[in-house]
Amino acid sequence: MPTQHPTQHPTKLSPQTAAIHAGEAPFISHHSLTVPIVQTATYTFENTAALVAYEEDQMFWDVPERVEYGRYGNPTVYAAQAKLAALEGAEDALLVSSGMAAITTTLMILLSQGDHFVITEDCYRRTRIFCNSFLARYGIDCTTVKPGDYEAMEAAIRPNTKLIFSESPTNPFLRCLDYPRLVEIAQRHNLKTVIDGTFGTPVNIRPLEFGIDLVIHSVTKYLAGHNDLLAGCVAGSFAMTGALRQAQGVIGAIVDPHTAFLILRGLKTLGLRMAQHNANGLAVARFLEDHPKIRKVWYPGLESHPDYTLAAASMTGFGGVVSFEVESDGPGASRFIDALRIPKIAPSLGGVESLIEQPSIISYYDSTPEDRLALGIRDELVRLALGVEDTDDLIADLGQALEKV
Ligand SMILES: Cc1ncc(COP(=O)(O)O)c(C=O)c1O
Repeated sequence: MPTQHPTQHPTKLSPQTAAIHAGEAPFISHHSLTVPIVQTATYTFENTAALVAYEEDQMFWDVPERVEYGRYGNPTVYAAQAKLAALEGAEDALLVSSGMAAITTTLMILLSQGDHFVITEDCYRRTRIFCNSFLARYGIDCTTVKPGDYEAMEAAIRPNTKLIFSESPTNPFLRCLDYPRLVEIAQRHNLKTVIDGTFGTPVNIRPLEFGIDLVIHSVTKYLAGHNDLLAGCVAGSFAMTGALRQAQGVIGAIVDPHTAFLILRGLKTLGLRMAQHNANGLAVARFLEDHPKIRKVWYPGLESHPDYTLAAASMTGFGGVVSFEVESDGPGASRFIDALRIPKIAPSLGGVESLIEQPSIISYYDSTPEDRLALGIRDELVRLALGVEDTDDLIADLGQALEKV
């Protein structure tokens, strides 16, 4: 088994430099500055001896230097994976077709019939649906606990518990997990820890550095950053990713080479984009908190947020998502949203364009008001995913639209 990824950079680079240079060199050809899009479904062998040599090599490298078939790998995809691994400080990273594919594949591979796992409540709704409905059909049980309640987390652990899964920051209330505390509990009970770090990004916090076993991202969001593709990734040690790599060739949720190229391109500006997302997030959260038409704001960079102290000590920025309740009802929140000129009404986050939604109308439209209220999702709750537009323009737009509440 290799101890170092063949594409790893020998020295530790800052996130912005890693985002530009890490992982690409072995995959550049024809003196091209950028990694080419290797648009092929399959790969040829000069003769049978070359094929046999490749099969032998496969047995020693998690990421072989060449590939046999498109579902097992692609040079453009490898370059994007190597860059993601460098950014997370991971031995390896695996790209898959969406954030949900990253979550579902990881949980399916780490868990077996009869196992139990623990998740935190304030997670992306589709993730909770997969954990509570889909996995239950295969005899895998899940207990949901509130983020921040470590006593409940530990009390939920059973003899057959295998892992703890959480987002951090969570969606939509941006709760931040205490990684050292989570890792301490998990190690004491011999459990794996998996974090969906989509809202954090490796620019703001790197969960693996705290001892988390696997970090997942919806690459669709900040990492690709331009609201123009769907992808997901899982990063961790070779020991953790090996089974996932094997499974991907069977499950088939791969990214295509063109998407990988767009991810490589998007990642190069990750540091710059995150600086503006973080600045917009903090400035808009402060503006909203002081506004008479706003009842409550959730943003980990505000002292009023339940995880402010933890976030301030562990994160270098708090991202571009701000959740808030307008001082009105659901229709009042809709009037405000409809009056905005810059943010567009759409699900998703992390792209250069600001997007806005009422969770009760988008992600939770088909759930009951009682179910929504149990999660704290009121009709007047708004989730604003700030892009990288000018801060003053955004605040001016929010100010004029709040007149319409
Ligand atoms: C935190 C989080 N994880 C995962 C996902 C799923 O990612 P994707 O849409 O790329 O499947 C989303 C949203 O879509 C999300 O917000």
